[in-house]
Amino acid sequence: MILPIVGYGHPTLRKTAKPIDSDYPNLKQLVSDMFETMYAADGVGLAAPQVDLSIQVVVIGVPVYDEQSKSYGDELEEHVMVNPEIIESKGQMRYYNEGCLSLPGIHEDVLRPERVVVRYFDTDFNEHVEEIDGMYARIAQHEIDHLQGKVFTDRLTPLRKAMVKRRLTEVASGRVQAAYKMQPVKKTVK
Ligand code: NI
Repeated sequence: MILPIVGYGHPTLRKTAKPIDSDYPNLKQLVSDMFETMYAADGVGLAAPQVDLSIQVVVIGVPVYDEQSKSYGDELEEHVMVNPEIIESKGQMRYYNEGCLSLPGIHEDVLRPERVVVRYFDTDFNEHVEEIDGMYARIAQHEIDHLQGKVFTDRLTPLRKAMVKRRLTEVASGRVQAAYKMQPVKKTVK
């Protein structure tokens, strides 16, 4: 089932999401719905707060690099993280152009570490600790930010923030039409 995505300005995007335990009902169905929602919106990641659920679940689709054509194809390698936590940042800080399904039409270069060590649980509540890099690390950091009530524009310099402010206000007021299903705006929070 495709779930409506909430946009910038929705209060759930600003909450710290709660960890879940193995009693959480229908987790695998939720994960399946989140992937379906992500694919329908042409995204590469989705965090539960973006579908108005303040819990620590993220789905990630890492574009697969094709060595022969030297480019990224349509295929995505799927990852799910429950209660994820970045325990260490490694390597250099790098800029990469990010977008977000909750901030339609906004794309900005965001500075983040190129490698991180992340601790998370899978949907069977087995614990994993992994060092990840590349697109996987980039998307994971963006999605884990959502669980802390952060969006990528929070990480811009004051100048860039000022430059996207008008577009963020347009999203928050519901004036921006996305190509996918979004939840109508009721009340907005910065
Ligand atoms: Ni996002």
